Amino acid sequence: MELKNIQLKTEENGIWTLTMNRPQALNALNRETILELEQCLHFLQEKTFLEARTLIITGSGEKAFVAGADIKEMMTLEPEQAKSFAEKGQKVLRNLEMLRMPVIAAVNGFALGGGLELALSCDFIYAAENAKFGLPEVSLGLMPGFGGCVRLARVVGLNKAREMAMTGDMITASEALQVGLVQKVLSNTDLMPAVMKVASGLAARGPRAVASVKRVVLDGFDNTIDGALALESNSFSKLFQFNDSREGMSAFIEKRKAQFNGN
Ligand code: CAA
Repeated sequence: MELKNIQLKTEENGIWTLTMNRPQALNALNRETILELEQCLHFLQEKTFLEARTLIITGSGEKAFVAGADIKEMMTLEPEQAKSFAEKGQKVLRNLEMLRMPVIAAVNGFALGGGLELALSCDFIYAAENAKFGLPEVSLGLMPGFGGCVRLARVVGLNKAREMAMTGDMITASEALQVGLVQKVLSNTDLMPAVMKVASGLAARGPRAVASVKRVVLDGFDNTIDGALALESNSFSKLFQFNDSREGMSAFIEKRKAQFNGN
């Protein structure tokens, strides 16, 4: 796979790191980067449960996770082109959200506009102390286009989302923690080791079980309570078809560490 703006690297235990890598533009998402992200997700989707257990997304450099969609590129767009740009970004971030494996955003600086939208499509967000979050599109006379209005409100509630998206003001990492947008704030040097530790913990769980939880929480959120409960009991029962559930329960009874293999 030829990648110019993204680095995709495999670590041990089926952990992958995807680094947005356009530091000269604070890792802004141009069309080419969005297509590369799509390619990476497709590549990871094809992997087995053992080969790809957890994905970490971060930004290169010390200053930014991703500072948004690429403003220089957007300047030339006509309305029809802007629509297909937004639709493409939305589709790729939806693929990310639906990726089978757990995805952690390690936010190491600015996560603005499309950068916050990228982080919101991950399963959870860990932030460095210097991280800043915002949907500043209104200061450009624009609005979020990659799902920001939709996902932010689901995570922080209607009023906080309206406040952030309508004022365009940024919030700090500690405020983001307070409103539930991020799950942990760490010093800049502790961020990646802490995220890697969580990723290793996730990689040690039953991968089908983790994938099922992810799916049921996401799909259940948009369902009626009865629909969501049915989804949960169906997914629960399906796990009993696989060796991993037998292995996990036997390991508990035998007082040993479970060895999951994704079957
Ligand atoms: N697009 C393109 N280039 C960007 C960029 C972006 N979103 N953000 C930063 N850059 C570039 C700057 O133009 C600059 O390039 P040059 O050196 O060639 O001039 C370089 O990155 C460094 O940026 P700054 O000099 O501005 O750095 P700073 O420390 O002074 O400010 C910042 C940092 C506050 C993040 C500021 O760069 C900024 O406000 N960026 C834009 C943020 C933004 O508005 N994001 C939303 C984009 S719209 C969007 O995302 C729509 C959508 O939902 C799909």
